[in-house]
Amino acid sequence: MAAESMQAPADGIVLVDTHTHLNDAQFQAEGEAAAAIRRAHAAGVMRLINMGDTMDSSALAVRLAETYEGVYAGVGIHPEEARPMTQADDDQIARWAAQPEVVCIGEIGLDYHWVKDEEKRTEQRAIFIHQLDLARQLHLPVCVHDREAHGDTLAILKKEGQGIRGVLHCYSGSWETAQEFLKLGWFLGVDGPLTFKKAAKLPDIVRQMPLGRLLVETDAPYMAPVPKRGQRNEPAFVRFVAEKAAQLRGLTLAEVAAQTTANAHALYGI
Ligand code: NI
Repeated sequence: MAAESMQAPADGIVLVDTHTHLNDAQFQAEGEAAAAIRRAHAAGVMRLINMGDTMDSSALAVRLAETYEGVYAGVGIHPEEARPMTQADDDQIARWAAQPEVVCIGEIGLDYHWVKDEEKRTEQRAIFIHQLDLARQLHLPVCVHDREAHGDTLAILKKEGQGIRGVLHCYSGSWETAQEFLKLGWFLGVDGPLTFKKAAKLPDIVRQMPLGRLLVETDAPYMAPVPKRGQRNEPAFVRFVAEKAAQLRGLTLAEVAAQTTANAHALYGI
C-alpha cells in the first residue's frame, strides 16, 4: 500500500479490528476489499485480522495478508464447517503458520446454535481439539467461536488448552463464565452486539472485566454496530464498538483504543 494511506487519522486514534472477514463472499467484487481497507485506515483502523472458516477461505485470508500492509490472517476450520481434517490440511496449516502474516489458528470452536445434531456436535468437539493441538505445535494463539456451547468450550479449554493463549471472540456468555475464561488467561472479544439495545449481559461484563483482556472486533460482514446496524459491516466500524466500550468504562476513546491495541499486540504480536 502507498505510505500515505497508512497514516493514522488526524485525531490520533489507532485501532485494530481483531476479527473480521474481508475474505467473505460479500467483499469479493473487484476492489471491494481494498476499498474497505482504505476506509478502515481513514477511521484509524490500521491493522485487521481476517479469519478463515474453511481451508479455501483461510487461503484467501492469507492472500489478502500477503497483499496489504497491516492485514493479517487466521487460518482454520469454523465449527459450522467442521469435517474430519486430513494430513494434507494439517500440512497446509503448518505451511501457512510459517508465514509472518499468519498470526493465529481461527476461527475454531463450537456452535450449538446452528448445529443441533449430537453426532455433528461430537465431530465439532473433535475438530476443535485437533486444531488446539495444531496451535500448540505451531506456537500460535487461537481465536475461538463459542455460540451456545459455553460449558463445553470452557471444559475443553481447561483440559486441552494448556499452553495455548487466545480469545473468546464475540463473547456471549455470562459474567460467571467470563471470569473462568479470564482466570485461564484468555482474552474476550466484543463486537456489534455490545452496541445493541438488547445487549443483555455484555455491557456489564465490559464494565467489570480487566481492560487489559479486552479486544475489539467487527466480525464483518455481519452484526454491524449501531449506528450502522443492518448494513454490511466492515473493519472501519470497529470504532463504534470501541466508543461504546469507552462510554461503559467512563474512559475516552483514545484510552480504550490505546489499551485494546496494546492487547492485540500482546496476543497476536501485531
Ligand atoms: Ni467470525
